[in-house]
Amino acid sequence: MSKIIVLYYSRTGNTEKMANAVVEGAKAVQDVKVDLEYHTTPEELANYSAIAVGTPTYHHDMNSDVKTLFEEAAVKTINLKNKIGAAFGSYGWSGEAPSLVLEIMKNKFQMRTLEPPLVIKYEPDQTGLEKCRELGKRLAELESRI
Ligand SMILES: Cc1cc2nc3c(=O)[nH]c(=O)nc-3n(C[C@H](O)[C@H](O)[C@H](O)COP(=O)(O)O)c2cc1C
Repeated sequence: MSKIIVLYYSRTGNTEKMANAVVEGAKAVQDVKVDLEYHTTPEELANYSAIAVGTPTYHHDMNSDVKTLFEEAAVKTINLKNKIGAAFGSYGWSGEAPSLVLEIMKNKFQMRTLEPPLVIKYEPDQTGLEKCRELGKRLAELESRI
């Protein structure tokens, strides 16, 4: 069975709401196992065929746990090549964190990324949550065809 990880960080709950909706969308697709995690290891990442990372933007950057995870994966030469990657996150005014995540996935790990990243200003409303569900569904559908 295909496996997807939705890994997220959220300080005030906005990206968490997005992550829950991404999982909901992915679970609507048959024969896909979806794990929602707040923390994982570089080795664990290798067990998934699709990786969605949710990070809000703080100080024009991604969350430091997410950054460390990718740094460690690079140091340990964890092979993520051709896995599907997606990124999303809440933001206030600049919102660059999910783009930075996709850049690393694409350029460092040669992952196949879903573009553009999904960013939502502050708390997601119903329309925003629906976009998150669509992202999860798209990810799972692509993944289940591999
Ligand atoms: C100290 C601080 C720094 C922030 N820096 C940025 C920033 O650089 N760019 C941006 O778009 N939003 C910034 N924000 C806004 C957050 O991204 C926004 O509140 C977001 O909804 C937080 O998501 P979360 O609830 O998942 O933690 C900042 C917020 C705080 C409190």
